[in-house]
Amino acid sequence: MDYEQVRAVDPAVADALEGEDTRQEETLAMIASENHVSKAVLEAQGSALTNKYAEGYPGKRYYAGCEYADEVEELAIERATELWGAEHVNVQPHSGTQANQAVYFATLDPGDKILSLDLTHGGHLSHGHPANFVGQFYEVEQYEVNPETGYLDYEGLAEMADTFEPDMIVSGYSAYPREVEWQRIQDVADDVGAYHLADIAHITGLVAAGVHQSPVGVTDFVTGSTHKTIRAGRGGIVMTSEEHADDIDNAVFPGGQGGPLMHNIAGKAVGFKEALQPEFDEYAQQVVDNADVLAETFADHGFELVSGGTDTHLVLIDLRESHPDLPGSPAEDALAEAGIVLNANTVPGETRSPFNPSGIRAGTPSLTTRGFDEETIAEVGDLIYRVVDNHDDQRVIDEVSERIDELCAAYPLYE
Ligand SMILES: Cc1ncc(COP(=O)(O)O)c(C=O)c1O
Repeated sequence: MDYEQVRAVDPAVADALEGEDTRQEETLAMIASENHVSKAVLEAQGSALTNKYAEGYPGKRYYAGCEYADEVEELAIERATELWGAEHVNVQPHSGTQANQAVYFATLDPGDKILSLDLTHGGHLSHGHPANFVGQFYEVEQYEVNPETGYLDYEGLAEMADTFEPDMIVSGYSAYPREVEWQRIQDVADDVGAYHLADIAHITGLVAAGVHQSPVGVTDFVTGSTHKTIRAGRGGIVMTSEEHADDIDNAVFPGGQGGPLMHNIAGKAVGFKEALQPEFDEYAQQVVDNADVLAETFADHGFELVSGGTDTHLVLIDLRESHPDLPGSPAEDALAEAGIVLNANTVPGETRSPFNPSGIRAGTPSLTTRGFDEETIAEVGDLIYRVVDNHDDQRVIDEVSERIDELCAAYPLYE
């Protein structure tokens, strides 16, 4: 992009922005929660709507001059409703975490009980970690995946729910590679009289395209991020039934936020429109097909995969079997040096720490956006193995880096 105006005012920021564009163009983004939005979404997000205060909702604002803000928000809501089929959608949360906050605020009192997946087993901070407000305002117990299979332990969850009697069960995860059976968890929630929040932050796009089953209409609340597998720019979304619509709207504003980020909501509207096109369904299917090939390639090299593979957009490698002396962080560093950007991640049964965990997580949404197919993803899988297996061999890292340069040039991001 051209940062002429920024450069005239602030060359330091212009340099950093150009540096980031080049970094994204010349490296492979494999952080499972990242993606690349279109130029249309970038343009909408960079629009003059950033100047506009529009506290309230379309037709009921606390400020004048909201006619275009109303139009944009109504379009975002209309398209989200078509994409996910919820009775009620709120597109104002600034992020996935704030979407979750709105659901808790709408349904729980301080001290109420939440049952959610442990962070090291794939859960998210906003589901009840002690460092997050959720872990401090509510009483939290956490379920786990089955240590043998890496799949969710649905029976264990049901037993915990029976004894803990939660007010809210949270499903939907950050590092769980398998399809989630929403109805099974909903049945548990029904049995114990708890609400059920399905946080589909990672898989919003897969659900919209029908390549992962949908919790909409099954669970009481569904939240998501709009910048991961759906390419609608940074932000959050809450979906629910008519019954909870007012409670959710009030919990988002004025409950937890002030003015909506109208420029981001414009980005959401444009990104949702793109996701309604038939090519998006093909994209989402390719994301999953690519992850499947990546998992197979890793397994062929002898990497141990949590759950043995994937049904989604991400693969989680537990390095302890194949590389017992190599934690995830130095593996992440060596890969970054070669031009493959992913993250070290905790694994179920973690024996190290969140700052120096035993796994690495790799996702395919960004590379699929660039046009990578099964063949190129398999090659990337080979390159990742080569780097991890030779993480202290500079010659290997340099060789892989040269090949990454070629791949990036062959699959340009923003031509
Ligand atoms: C399951 C889950 N929920 C919520 C979030 C938070 O999203 P955000 O970064 O938009 O707050 C994430 C982020 O990765 C996530 O994985």
